[in-house]
Amino acid sequence: MNGQSTRDLALLVRRIENVQALDRVSQLIEPLARRLTRNDNVKRTLSGTQLGHRLHPMLTDVPIGCWTSATLIDLAGGRAGHRAARMLVGAGIVASIPTVASGLSDWEDTYGSTRRIGTVHAIGNATGVVLQLASFRARARGRHARGALLGITSLGVLTFAGYLGGHLVYVERAGVDHEVPVVDDDEWHAVARTSELDEGGVLGVTLHGARIALVRDRGSVYALAAVCSHAGGPLDEGKVHDGALVCPWHGSAFCLDNGAVERGPATTPQPIYETRIRGTVIEVRVVEITRLHAAV
Ligand code: FES
Repeated sequence: MNGQSTRDLALLVRRIENVQALDRVSQLIEPLARRLTRNDNVKRTLSGTQLGHRLHPMLTDVPIGCWTSATLIDLAGGRAGHRAARMLVGAGIVASIPTVASGLSDWEDTYGSTRRIGTVHAIGNATGVVLQLASFRARARGRHARGALLGITSLGVLTFAGYLGGHLVYVERAGVDHEVPVVDDDEWHAVARTSELDEGGVLGVTLHGARIALVRDRGSVYALAAVCSHAGGPLDEGKVHDGALVCPWHGSAFCLDNGAVERGPATTPQPIYETRIRGTVIEVRVVEITRLHAAV
């Protein structure tokens, strides 16, 4: 690709970011995404929380691989390859179901211009799937040339949608774990008075440039790094729910006890601090994993 083509593509992406009409399309897709992810276990699975890795980019390889292989067989396999190509198109369609679901879950957590790019990415992928469905239908009716043409058209559309997907991750950093600042010594530090932290409350403090969310829950004080590992949301503005601290931006829930992700979209545990009470002062010390928390 020459420099002019690269600039044209970058310009096109900028234009997409400014198309406000895409917000109306988002409003149509959003209820579907919310319904899909309203169950915490479903959200956790579609986010890849159990894997500790985003699920969507892992799944995209399967349908794209199937459909690309089908097109290669169409081009080089002759009549003998018709059946194999049809099976690969069908397998790709089946594999696209969880791929679309995980993509929709990730799209739900985007905003503004990033969401507009994500919306066009989703429309492109949906168009690619529809073309593959039409391709499968044509092949099943014995119209292989038509099926092959639809398949190769689909790959063209999916390639552009994939370009936008790459832009979302590598430029917009959608779905990329956020760097979480943590105090880099292992000393105890006084950070607040016990009177500043009510039962069920969250208090944000800054220690050596690192933001920390102090939480009092059921008589114990907990401390977690306050920059959400998902996309940098302010956990010190979050709420405590059922032994977890819930991020105000996309609803990731982190276990107070060990920082584990209890609900996605986050996939990386939140760093935590050990806590203790000295008189009326709350002290914290960085640890990787601890089960020691101060009772007040
Ligand atoms: S920033 Fe997305 S869940 Fe916290």
